[in-house]
Amino acid sequence: SARPRIFSGMQPTSDSLHLGNYLGALTQWVALQDDYDALYCVVDLHALTVAPDPAALRERTRRTAAQYLAAGVDPERSILFVQSHVAEHAELAWLLSCQTGFGEAGRMTQFKDKSAKNGAEGTTVGLFTYPILMAADILLYDTALVPVGEDQRQHLELTRDLAQRLNSRFGDDTAVVPDAHIVKATAKIFDLQDPTAKMSKSAASPNGIIELLDPPKTVAKRIRSAVTDAIGEVRYDRENQPGVANLLTIFSALTGRDVDAIVADYAGKGYGHLKVDLAEVVTTFLEPFQERVEGYLSEPDTLDAVLEDGADRARAIARTTLDRVSDRFGL
Ligand code: ADP
Ligand code: NA
Repeated sequence: SARPRIFSGMQPTSDSLHLGNYLGALTQWVALQDDYDALYCVVDLHALTVAPDPAALRERTRRTAAQYLAAGVDPERSILFVQSHVAEHAELAWLLSCQTGFGEAGRMTQFKDKSAKNGAEGTTVGLFTYPILMAADILLYDTALVPVGEDQRQHLELTRDLAQRLNSRFGDDTAVVPDAHIVKATAKIFDLQDPTAKMSKSAASPNGIIELLDPPKTVAKRIRSAVTDAIGEVRYDRENQPGVANLLTIFSALTGRDVDAIVADYAGKGYGHLKVDLAEVVTTFLEPFQERVEGYLSEPDTLDAVLEDGADRARAIARTTLDRVSDRFGL
């Protein structure tokens, strides 16, 4: 196809994705489907780096796929699949690992941070080579564009370096050098309890996170107890009123309304009004979303068939790339 290829994935490391994943990534994936030849992957091999419980991993892989579908990832237009179903990811990762310097891999800041926290004995070699597996995910599909957040930027740089290295060692058309796909439009969502930190599954307290599969009542309560400030006026001021700005960002992203228009609605009203209305907005989004997720999970055969078909289509592309690359390596 003539459309540029795009690849993205998330790890099945929690039972539910959160609102940051939805507004920062999934809505973007859905929007890209018309103009790009997109592959959306549940990267379960990456999740192995933290040695998850096998039954939990299997369940989370399905739930993650169901949430992609519920968000609007369309298996008719995009390829939706599970990483481990396409063995070529691990094969290409080995070839790439033999082209990556030990020092080069050791400079990855995410590895340095995580291994410093867990110590050498608590750190797997898989965590060390994780960025090489990510490079394989991308290069396997001759990907042109990768939507990446800030925290994956250095890994994409490594991927680009590896692609360029393959091309200079084995011939120009060995690998496609991918670019970062920068979107201005997506929202960055912050923690409700610490609105200077991004909403993340690794947050200190669950009260700061809106999980997509949380009961709407729990979510409403968390929004009502979101940290704000003593200024008392609804304004979009990221610096001085980060909590309120975050609530406005969520409001705007879920309703499609301008932040300015929302601010105008709350002129002279307290934060309580904003929070009550936002809780309603979020609940109105979550209820049908959760029904769709439940629908996919209650028909396991259908979900399996979707993922199997996605894996078949992904594998056909992956095999062609891997045959070309292995041949260049002398295999
Ligand atoms: P987490 O920080 O919860 O571990 P991931 O790093 O797995 O989330 O992110 C998966 C995807 O969701 C990435 O594309 C990332 O950029 C996006 N994302 C994660 N958290 C947020 C957030 N708070 N706001 C916007 N996008 C986010
Ligand atoms: Na993360």
